Parts: sequence; structure tokens; C-alpha cells
Amino acid sequence: MTAYRDNPDAVRALVKDDRVHRDLYTSPEIFALEQEHFFGNTWNYVGHESQIPKSGDWISNDIGGRPLIIVRHGDGSVRALMNRCAHKGSRLVNGPCGNTGKFFRCPYHAWTFKTDGALLAIPLKNGYEGTALGECEASRGLTALRHVRSHRGFIFVKINDAGPDFETFFGDSLSSIDNMADRSPEGELEIAGGCLRFVHQCNWKMFVENLNDTMHPMVAHESSAGTAKAMWAGQPADAPKPMAIEQFVPFMSDYKFFEDMGIRTYDNGHSFTGVHFSIHSKYAAIPAYDDAMKARYGEEKTAQILGMARHNTVYYPNLTIKGAIQAIRVVKPLAVDRTLVESWTFRLKGAPPELLQRTTMYSRLINSPFSVVGHDDLQAYRGMQAGLLASGNEWVSLHRNFDATEVAGGEITTIGTSELPMRNQYRAWSRYMTETM
Ligand code: FES
Ligand SMILES: [Fe+2]
Repeated sequence: MTAYRDNPDAVRALVKDDRVHRDLYTSPEIFALEQEHFFGNTWNYVGHESQIPKSGDWISNDIGGRPLIIVRHGDGSVRALMNRCAHKGSRLVNGPCGNTGKFFRCPYHAWTFKTDGALLAIPLKNGYEGTALGECEASRGLTALRHVRSHRGFIFVKINDAGPDFETFFGDSLSSIDNMADRSPEGELEIAGGCLRFVHQCNWKMFVENLNDTMHPMVAHESSAGTAKAMWAGQPADAPKPMAIEQFVPFMSDYKFFEDMGIRTYDNGHSFTGVHFSIHSKYAAIPAYDDAMKARYGEEKTAQILGMARHNTVYYPNLTIKGAIQAIRVVKPLAVDRTLVESWTFRLKGAPPELLQRTTMYSRLINSPFSVVGHDDLQAYRGMQAGLLASGNEWVSLHRNFDATEVAGGEITTIGTSELPMRNQYRAWSRYMTETM
């Protein structure tokens, strides 16, 4: 067994231009190093500003094994703090969300901290007179992250100082978030309700790869979407189409459809499918919504915004969004072979309720643990996670449409059935994984 710790060359050797080694998905040592390095050096999504509208509102999260609190500070800014008491390390908050008022109070010995992390008060403080507490880490309060950025309400953090700044990291891929927010007649999104949690028995990278894998829907989803398509076959052309049929059937589109859809990749592992059109393009119009959009943006801009119907955009590594349907999924690695996928739905501010209905329907049908489509994918991931332990072949092929010039990176647009997005993800993985090793 290869020892990867302190051996960046061995880690880099796992990623070739056109294939990757199975240890990326199966090695517990690689998983531990990812938590420490890869997720520390990349920008990760931690929540949406609409979840913490008032000062003192907080949500908790975990990035790369580090427990975090994302909190609205008194001046209105968003802060990210390590969820670790400066005294003896207790977590400050224990639930998913809440409001702490003006300060956090540790549940163990009641040290208090302002919402920017500064130490506020210690009970019986005179007990520290004459000690070196003032020169020690404990007196500096909670560790505050230096790299916190919000884009159209989407909050991202980077744990380490290594790695590029926010704009450099995401570049023009942010256009997908912009389009999702622009779809609101008020230009703003808000999280609607809680989230659907779905534990996948696979490595997190299998899920992320699959988002831009357009060679699988017509195969893996034949039992679910194919059944829906067969049930609907023979209906008169003018029969009113149920929303579920409208959402299921495009998964069964043929290879040419997905090929023509197009893929675009950006540096640092980001990409989206649906450059020209997507499985979301043919959803029925909602007249009241179109009217609200035209009133806000005018005819031409409305057509431009709604004409952009991208399928999945991957904000590598932990966020994927569907702008056209206002649903996102967040990837939370739990172990080398276990991944929590959270599905969140958004309300477009100023839009009629049918839009949210469409979004929640989609999340239930496709992304939730009750979904019939999502289980097809899960079955494929579980199969890979088990199959990769076989002997005789230690490599995963990503050769489809490989072109040696792509290795240089930059923005690339190509046919929708290329495996370029996966190769692009692993080039970024190799870079950020080894940057601090
Ligand atoms: S551990 Fe927090 S106050 Fe002691
Ligand atoms: Fe799928």
C-alpha cells in the first residue's frame, strides 16, 4: 500500500491526463488528506444569506472536518467562526441553526464571545490574575476565518490562506449563480423550508462527477424515467402534461440530445452542461411569471435570462446548482465511502407560487431520498464503490473525447457527452490536494 502522507508526488501520480487511480475513491488515507488539504485550500459553499437575515442568526456547518459557525454580525456582515470554545474546546452551538443574540455563551463554563469571535467575558475572571492567559490563544477568542465571500447571497469560505482568491477561483462560472438569481423578478433568492438529506454509500467524487455525466441518464434512468415516458406514450399532443411527466421524460432523451446540449468547463474544476439548451428548456410557460419578469427586466432581457436553461453547474468541489429549477445540492463527505447530499430549494422573490411548486416537485422526484430517479444513480455509485475493489485493473477511464490541448485549462466549450468535466475536476483536485502537503 502506498503511503500518501508527506508524499505529494505519489498523490499526483494518481491523476493522469485521461484516467485516475481507484485510490481516489477507496483509500481512507487519501480521504483524510483531502479533508486536511484539499477542502482547506478550496472555496466551499456553507449556506445562503437568506438563512441568517437578522444579526445573531447562525447556521452551523462542517468543511474538511472543521466545525464552523456562520453568523450575521451586528454590523450586518457575515462571519465564519470555528465552532470551538477558546477555553477547552467545547462546541459553542450544537444544532443546525438558531439566533444567539449579541454573543455566544459556551455551554460548558459560560465563557462568552461576540459574534465576530472576540472574547467578551469569563466568569470569576479574577482567577486568572497573575496567569499568562492574556498571552495565550485562549484570550484571542474564537478563530475567525479570513476568507469569507458572498455572491448573490451564496456564502463561500476558504479555510487556509493557500489557494486563489474568490474571483480567481470561480471566474466566469459565477454566471450560473447570477442567472439563478436573475430569474427572480426582484433579483433575489431565498431558501424555502428545510433540506432533504440523502446519505450515499459512495465516495463524494462519484456524485460530483456524475453531475456532468450525460452518457448515463438514458441508461441508468431507464427504469424510472423510461417507465414515466412509456406511461405517457400515446397521449394526444394537446393533452395537459402533468408536471411530473414534464420533469421525468427529458432524462430519456437520446445521445444526440445530450451531445448537442454542450458542456463548458472553467479552471479549478467548475463546469456546466446545457450551453445551448437542456432537459429544463421545454418546461411549460407560467404566464403570470413571464409578466412579472417582463415588468422588471423588459422583453429582451427576460428572453435572455429565461433562455439560459443550464442543466447542472458544478461549483467544485461541494456545490451544484440547477438555476433553471432553483434547486441546489451540497456535498458533505462523511467517510471514504459515505457522502451526505443535501438538497435545498429556493423561492424566487416576487415570482408566483407555481415556481416554488415546480422546484419542490423536482426535488422530490429527482433529488430526495424518496426519489425514484436518485436511486438509479445511487445504485450506480454503490456498484462502483464495490467494483473498484476488484483486482486486475486499478484505473478509472476518463478518455471520452480527450484532447491533449485541454490540459492547458482555461474556458472550454465542447460537446455535451465529453468526459472533459471529470478530467478538469481531477486536475484541480491534484493541484489543491498537494498545494499544502
Ligand atoms: S469549554 Fe467553553 S467555557 Fe470552558
Ligand atoms: Fe442520474
